[in-house]
Formats: sequence, structure tokens, C-alpha cells
Amino acid sequence: MKIFLDTADLDQIRRAADANLIDGITTNPSLMMQAAGQRDPREIFLEICKTVDGPVSAEVIAIDKNNMLAEGRRLAKIHDNIVVKVPLTEDGLRACRGLRSEGIRVNVTLCFSVTQAHLAAKAGASFISPFVGRVDDISGEGMDLIGQIRQVYDNYAFETEILVASIRHPQHVVQSLLLGADCATMPPKVLYQLLKHPLTDLGLSAFLADWEKLGKEL
Ligand code: E4P
Repeated sequence: MKIFLDTADLDQIRRAADANLIDGITTNPSLMMQAAGQRDPREIFLEICKTVDGPVSAEVIAIDKNNMLAEGRRLAKIHDNIVVKVPLTEDGLRACRGLRSEGIRVNVTLCFSVTQAHLAAKAGASFISPFVGRVDDISGEGMDLIGQIRQVYDNYAFETEILVASIRHPQHVVQSLLLGADCATMPPKVLYQLLKHPLTDLGLSAFLADWEKLGKEL
């Protein structure tokens, strides 16, 4: 499963890319608002693309098809790694089809149902982003959605990749792996929770303490 970092924070992106922990980046307007400050978001997208050798999702702001197409084309020109993110609306699906016919990859975002995911796949989406954490937030079962979309995409051999989004904790990642999701995007905090284990830390301390007692060099 591909692991994407859900942030526009360049320091976090450099750290994770340098450790080879990530396969791509997702951003959204809220994450860009937190990270950009006075900088031009397009410059930040370019810098992210030069840092990470993989898909970098950049979201349109327009809500009508023609302006989404125009923004999507501008975003795609920034770098080959850019995947244009459009919302799961009627216009978003029209824009998805249009951008795909021009060879531009599209991530359809804000997906909350199997029927939405099905329509996005039919519109040629490269990625579908179901927001599991936001479903859990309103007492739903976000991961059920992932299992159902997996089944539908397999039933009909859709090539759209399931990109589990709005991940809140490592169990969301475990479930994504077990359900056969293609990608999972997560905030930096969750990424580092994936590799931490208290028994690893305890074991390492004990090994180092014993070596110290031995008093030898390697
Ligand atoms: C996905 O692409 C979104 O950027 C993201 O996962 C949303 O997560 P949130 O619900 O924690 O804001």
C-alpha cells in the first residue's frame, strides 16, 4: 500500500521523504492555508514535487466545471507529479472526465459513499479519496466504506486507486492494509506512530546497556 503524507508543510515533507517513508503527498486548501503564509501556493507545490518522487495532489478552488478545468490545467503545468484534486460534485465529475481526456491525473475528493465512489470511477478518476475519519466523527464506520468500495471496484475491474483519507490513527492504517486499499494518506503524527513500538525502545535500551557492560568497541 502506498503511503502519502497529508500536509503542505515542507519541513515535514523533507523529513519523511529523506527517510523514504512516503510515496506521495496530498494537500487541500485548509492544509495550504496552514503552511503557506505569505508564499505563493504554486511555489510550494513545485517545491513539494521536487522533494517527493510520486503523486502530489493539488486541489482546485473553483466549483464550476469550466473554472475547475482551467485551474486544473494550470496546476498540472507546475510539474508532472501533480494530480489535480476535484470535489465529488456534478461539476467535479465533469471536470474529472475533461482533465482525464487531456491526460491529467485526477483525485476525486470528499467522497462519503459507495455510490459517489462508483460515479468517480466511471468518470475516470485516478484516485478516489473517501474520508474515513470524518465519517467516524459523526458516529459512522468510515472503514466500512473502504471495504465496500474495494468490493465494487474489484467487481467491475475499475482501475481507480482507493486513497484512504482523513486518517486519524494507526488502526485506520491497519484496516486499510487488511481491506486492500491502494493508498492511505495521513498527517505526520500518524506516520511516525506507525513505526514506534514501546518494546522496540525497551529492547534497544537493554541491548545498549548490556553492550556498555561488555565495555568493547565494534
Ligand atoms: C485528503 O486528501 C484530505 O486532505 C484529508 O485527509 C482530510 O483529513 P481531515 O478530515 O483530517 O481534515
